Amino acid sequence: MTGMEHISRSGKPAVVAHRGASEALPEHTLAAYELALSQGADGLECDVRLTSDQELVCVHDRTVDRTSDGTGVVSEMSLAELRDLDFGSWHPAGDKASVLTLRELLSLTLDWRRPVRLFIETKHPVRYGSLVEQKLLALLHEFGVGTPPSADHSRAVVISFSSAGVWRIRRHAPMLPTILLGDTARLLGGSAATAVGATGIGPSVETLRLNPDLVDRAAAAGRVTYCWTVDEQVDVQLCADLGVRWLATNRPAKVRDWLVTV
Ligand code: G3P
Ligand code: CA
Repeated sequence: MTGMEHISRSGKPAVVAHRGASEALPEHTLAAYELALSQGADGLECDVRLTSDQELVCVHDRTVDRTSDGTGVVSEMSLAELRDLDFGSWHPAGDKASVLTLRELLSLTLDWRRPVRLFIETKHPVRYGSLVEQKLLALLHEFGVGTPPSADHSRAVVISFSSAGVWRIRRHAPMLPTILLGDTARLLGGSAATAVGATGIGPSVETLRLNPDLVDRAAAAGRVTYCWTVDEQVDVQLCADLGVRWLATNRPAKVRDWLVTV
């Protein structure tokens, strides 16, 4: 399935489940992503890090301490070591859960019964040279989504706070959409995004509140806006009014309800 026409609804922002339905269930677990999909999310967001044996796993923090029953630095642990940990029970509503690999999340996303888009955030990719991008692109090619016909028809979007990381993706996979995440100054007018060839800008909702003109300025430079993390109704309305294309939230079900009336 490659058609993405059904993803955006009538010009309103499309809903991206940030780390899955991560308010209801433990972030970055299969259960959190399955719940988000069943709630109608248009896209899924995940953070990826490399293990010591160079597997891409979906973990936000540098260490496993907050989101598992273990301790340690993700990049110093093997996938087998991570698989021994429980990534679910720390959450009040969570059951025991294994670490989620990007490979597993791609399978879920691409097998889902309607087209959804996966927003893959590379965390600190510069630390490993270009290894994160190499591993990521190899995986996307393996799943047949590394060379989409156009950015609008891509099942994967690579997002990063690292301009070097975005630039390397653009260099090796020019058709893949990319979003440069960042603060106000570097995003204003989309100039930094233009410099690295990103197809979109990714301000936080706090940044957007202070700089609502960002969306129009990015659009004038031919770029879309992805805003994170939008959990309040007033901010959903703001995103809709400004023409934000993608809105990342920890509460996809609630946000979908709110979007009905904007
Ligand atoms: O979707 C972008 C957003 O996730 C960036 O911040 O810290 O949640 O990864 P963080
Ligand atoms: Ca993230």
